[in-house]
Amino acid sequence: MTSGDWITREAPRAVERLQTRLAPRFNGRPRRRRDFFRRLETHGERLFRLIHRLYGWRWDFAWQLERLVEVAAEAALARPSPIRRLDAAREESGIEWFGDPRVLWGMGYVDRFAGDLAGVGKRIEYLTELGVTHLHLMPLYAVPEGPNDGGYAVSDYRRVRPDLGTMEDLEALAERLREHGIALALDLVLNHTAHDHPWALKARQGDPRYQDYYLMFDDRTLPDRFVPHLREIFPERGGDAFTWVPGIPGPAGGKWVWTTFYPFQWDLNYANPEVLAAMAGEMLFLANRGVEVLRMDATPFLWKREGTSCENLEEAHLVLQALNAVAAIAAPFLVFLSEAIVHPDDVVRFVAPQECPLAYNPLLMASEWEAAATRDTTLLRHALAHRTALPEGSQWLTYLRSHDDIGWGFADEDAISHGIDPAGHRSFLNSFYSGAHPASFARGMLFQENPVTGDARISGTLASLAGLEAALEAGDPVLVDQAVRRILALLSVVATAGGLPLLYLGDELGQLNDYRWPTHSPGADDNRWLHRPFFPWEEVPTASEGMGASGRIRAGLLRLLEFRRRHPSLATTEVEVLPLRSRELLGYRKRHHDDEVLVVVNFSERSVGLGAGELPPRSWVDPEGQPVAWDTTRLLDGYQVVMATRSDIR
Ligand code: GLC
Repeated sequence: MTSGDWITREAPRAVERLQTRLAPRFNGRPRRRRDFFRRLETHGERLFRLIHRLYGWRWDFAWQLERLVEVAAEAALARPSPIRRLDAAREESGIEWFGDPRVLWGMGYVDRFAGDLAGVGKRIEYLTELGVTHLHLMPLYAVPEGPNDGGYAVSDYRRVRPDLGTMEDLEALAERLREHGIALALDLVLNHTAHDHPWALKARQGDPRYQDYYLMFDDRTLPDRFVPHLREIFPERGGDAFTWVPGIPGPAGGKWVWTTFYPFQWDLNYANPEVLAAMAGEMLFLANRGVEVLRMDATPFLWKREGTSCENLEEAHLVLQALNAVAAIAAPFLVFLSEAIVHPDDVVRFVAPQECPLAYNPLLMASEWEAAATRDTTLLRHALAHRTALPEGSQWLTYLRSHDDIGWGFADEDAISHGIDPAGHRSFLNSFYSGAHPASFARGMLFQENPVTGDARISGTLASLAGLEAALEAGDPVLVDQAVRRILALLSVVATAGGLPLLYLGDELGQLNDYRWPTHSPGADDNRWLHRPFFPWEEVPTASEGMGASGRIRAGLLRLLEFRRRHPSLATTEVEVLPLRSRELLGYRKRHHDDEVLVVVNFSERSVGLGAGELPPRSWVDPEGQPVAWDTTRLLDGYQVVMATRSDIR
């Protein structure tokens, strides 16, 4: 008998045994029992296979599977009734908003956006006016004292950072947001915990069970075997991925702990199935608070194996798929968003309905910035034409920047295929966006420069990177106008090329870099705080009147979103890139049923010609319904965006 045969025979039996074992827990809760066991029936075998692949070699494999399903059952029993209704609707219709052109994501830090959770509740009107339908609040959990990587060092997933509010406040906010048509997204920081999480504290005290939650070593033998294969994620912190933590009982009076990011973020050991079950418990706890989307933080790093880069390993996918199956059993309303900022081939591998159906598109983001610097859309066209396809039932988030730095994540082979030296080009882009390059319009900073490899990434807000800061400083209205147009050109691609647009809140007002970050932020050596400013509420009244650069950006964005809302084709990932002759121009066609949209964007400040024969032969109308005359070559102004639809289907 092959192991495949064995699994096929054993999986249904295991599911059956689990049903018998868990049934008494649902006594007196017939509806919950019916739903839970129906879902277990549907997804149990999938879960069995995944857990078998991950931990099948263990003598206690069956027990581990049972433990995981038990976690799901506990959560299903505790799930609040209003959310259970959403579960049912989701199961019936799938994730409908994936194809909804009205969707707009906003993201921000609770304290910087609105003070605290109650404050966010008071800003709902602002969000709905902007059209926000999904709000990602950056990690708001309890953190250690001192630096906490912007909340990504979590001391307790079940406790809100006290200055932001309480879990009850969070639940109340999730509900209020939902009443206003806004879904709440939070992070599941699952690759690591803070060094003072209760699991870490027990490990520190010498409890071997909890030491096995992490990757801890008495000496450098194993770390030294791993290190040569690892990428330095935060090079500026120096050294390697291991941190010496004194005082942990053991022969050496301390241990080396795996810390991919900062020394206070201890990587979890998913080779230990107890960790998976524990994290599933935290995940479902959050799902039961009313969170609809969990951003799965740092997905590529979840599994380690000697001799590899310990990124994007097959088992990292299996861990996510197992969590996905658990969620499908206990909380089907929950959606996973993958945060994988790696090679484009690897980014896509995390995206699938049964893994993470939603993902950031970091390649589109980086390629837009690349095209803005070079005034050449070659790589951007390549990214759109060859690297946007996703499996059916999954979707991209498109964006220009997040709370993180911008990395030049195009594939080396794509650059080379267009005659571009990848390393040289990245170095040019870093010089351009840090403002060092003499021809740069940008104001940004190098993030995590690696003195050995010369690699770096870029910090900065949308407006500062796109030239508004320098233009305002120069007091030059022509440059200001150019910067505003550039920002809107960049945003137009985010809003139309393929996926759901995401905005870092404040960018809609052209918010500039925050140079007070070294004294005003919790991570004084982390210049990502440059682009995490406090929300400029004082600018909202004038901006709402359409005045000043902020007002023009906001008004332009609202127009874009209004156009988007009318065209379902713009929420699809499929895109047909047009082979336009001028490399400054990016043009594409979007189609979905009988909706058809044409977009042409000039990525340079000069006027560029576009020939009539270069466009699909149709009669097009602009958003106001006026025919777009395209019988001869026509000039597109600097940063002009042309959006047109078929005249017969407006
Ligand atoms: C993700 C977060 C980033 C954080 C890292 C470690 O990449 O977006 O802000 O530093 O994970 O948790």
